[in-house]
Amino acid sequence: MERLQKIIAQAGIASRRKAEELILEGKVKVDGEIITELGFKAKKNAVIEVNGKIIEKEDKVYFVLNKPKRYLSSVSDHRDRKTVVDLIDTDKRIFPVGRLDYDTTGLIILTNDGEFANEIIHPRYSIEKEYDVTIRGILRKDEIRQLEEGIYLDNKKTLPARVVIVNVDRKRKITDLQLTIREGRNHQVKNMMKYFGHRVTKLNRRRLGIVTLKGLQIGEYRRLKPFEIKQLKSLANENKLIK
Ligand code: URA
Repeated sequence: MERLQKIIAQAGIASRRKAEELILEGKVKVDGEIITELGFKAKKNAVIEVNGKIIEKEDKVYFVLNKPKRYLSSVSDHRDRKTVVDLIDTDKRIFPVGRLDYDTTGLIILTNDGEFANEIIHPRYSIEKEYDVTIRGILRKDEIRQLEEGIYLDNKKTLPARVVIVNVDRKRKITDLQLTIREGRNHQVKNMMKYFGHRVTKLNRRRLGIVTLKGLQIGEYRRLKPFEIKQLKSLANENKLIK
């Protein structure tokens, strides 16, 4: 037996908090009966309806994909472009956890576990994301220091980042670096570089928490291992406690 709000969140319909609101608003039925009690636990085979729609309970699946360029991080596209979901052979209704830009490569997780996805991407949980970045121009020492301390993007300070310079080509004015951040704002890496006038010409996510791309060629994927799922969940929870 599981709590109703957990089942709804796991089905990817709403976050746990939103699910609680739906329950309190009388929008959730269990076996045909409206339930407004938050502690209610539903049996495994119970028929659960949210806003008149029966939710389907699927086994949970978790994949990690090495995303190629020119794939959208979404389930579908109105312009018929290819999406990351097209690369995974499954009959489950999976979706990407967070987003990589169309021209960004690298690590992206796909799942049908809505609650897991919410935990991973929620800024409050601040799981580390490590990127290989190539920029036009030379990243100066004081710029690195500012990135490490946090800069203001859209009036909000970024969390301290880690910067490792991998290569500086002074002749061609190109810097390769590794950047580790703990947030996932829209176009965050590109905007952090743009802040100093540097254009990102190559971007690859190499790590998310403890999950890496080891052994995965571009376009390849694998299932997350149970310990990886567990660690990502507990990383999210650890960071939740710190805040
Ligand atoms: N930051 C970006 O700017 N783009 C991405 O795809 C990921 C992080």
